[in-house]
Amino acid sequence: MTAVVPGDRLADRSVRVLRDGQARSGAYVASPNFDTYRYAWLRDGAFCAHAMDLAGERASSAAFHRWVAGSVEAHRGLIEAAIAGVEAGKRLPPEAFPPARYTLDGALEEPEAGEEWPNFQVDGYGMWLWALAEHLGGAAPEPELARTVGLVARYLATTWRLRCYSCWEELDGGEHASTLGAVVAGLAAASTLLGDGAYAETADVVRASLTARFVVDGRFGRGPADPRLDGSLLWLAVPFGVLPAEHPLIGQTVAAARRDLAGPGGGIYRYLGDTYYGGGQWLLLTSSLAWHLARVGDREGAAAAQDWVRAQALANGDLPEQTTGHSQDPAMIEPWIERWGPVATPLLWSHAMYLIAEHELAR
Ligand code: BGC
Repeated sequence: MTAVVPGDRLADRSVRVLRDGQARSGAYVASPNFDTYRYAWLRDGAFCAHAMDLAGERASSAAFHRWVAGSVEAHRGLIEAAIAGVEAGKRLPPEAFPPARYTLDGALEEPEAGEEWPNFQVDGYGMWLWALAEHLGGAAPEPELARTVGLVARYLATTWRLRCYSCWEELDGGEHASTLGAVVAGLAAASTLLGDGAYAETADVVRASLTARFVVDGRFGRGPADPRLDGSLLWLAVPFGVLPAEHPLIGQTVAAARRDLAGPGGGIYRYLGDTYYGGGQWLLLTSSLAWHLARVGDREGAAAAQDWVRAQALANGDLPEQTTGHSQDPAMIEPWIERWGPVATPLLWSHAMYLIAEHELAR
């Protein structure tokens, strides 16, 4: 096993958790011990694959990318129909769009009676293209894969203006800065992978929409009519590349997130008012902050964020999704435990972000 940082036991454990959480199909399960998360999200998986690339586990990331391509191709008819419907100006129901999460076999999940769980979230498709381009590192995709990339890129270029659910699977206003950031990253990746400048031009249009409509008081807000901060804004520069990491709008956004979204010890909340499991501090967001800070040269800040994450690990090294010690709404912890069980642990995406940030610090 290749440790990202030699001697870092949590890095070793993280690689193990990602490897053990990868199904034979290549899909990464969101969490092996949390029944509700028995699916494979493109969002979580993209970061898991990238972490495995950085850890030198390229067979694992390659298997994931093959699985995504196969799952997308298995639903080509659905995706082509969604593109055609949107282009024809039709208002389509959420189930007319490809899902944010698939079963580990790449099938559509059977919705459970009484559980409304919105699956129309386009960000994961952008994140997948970003992670794939990182994986290929400048190499051209094989023709079959290029065809799948083209389909996903057309899907993003057609749907980015639609209202959809956020990375937190919530509608709010239906327009989310981090979702559009993922679209920018995906279209830019597709442009490189396919050598097609038209996708870079569309990425520029999405980028311009973000800077024109989502900026309040010199920083980004989570939605055009919602100036609140959101931990997912941390991804706008690193890795989505909406603007350079040193850009003042990004600097102000990150500074505001550190001021308003950091709980005791420095763990990052998703957003103020979050009540999911009480709305605690999320490990993957804290490592996202570390990733950004390490990229802009604030090694001390990055190391402190990673120290906080390390301190949340269980004795066996497993990382939870969030910690409830300083939650915003403690009365909401128990109702979620009763409904779905204890906080998802290990969460593969927490481990992935930890590895990615460690790698950035070690560069
Ligand atoms: C989060 C998503 C995540 C999913 C699986 C949800 O609770 O809001 O961002 O993709 O869990 O980890």
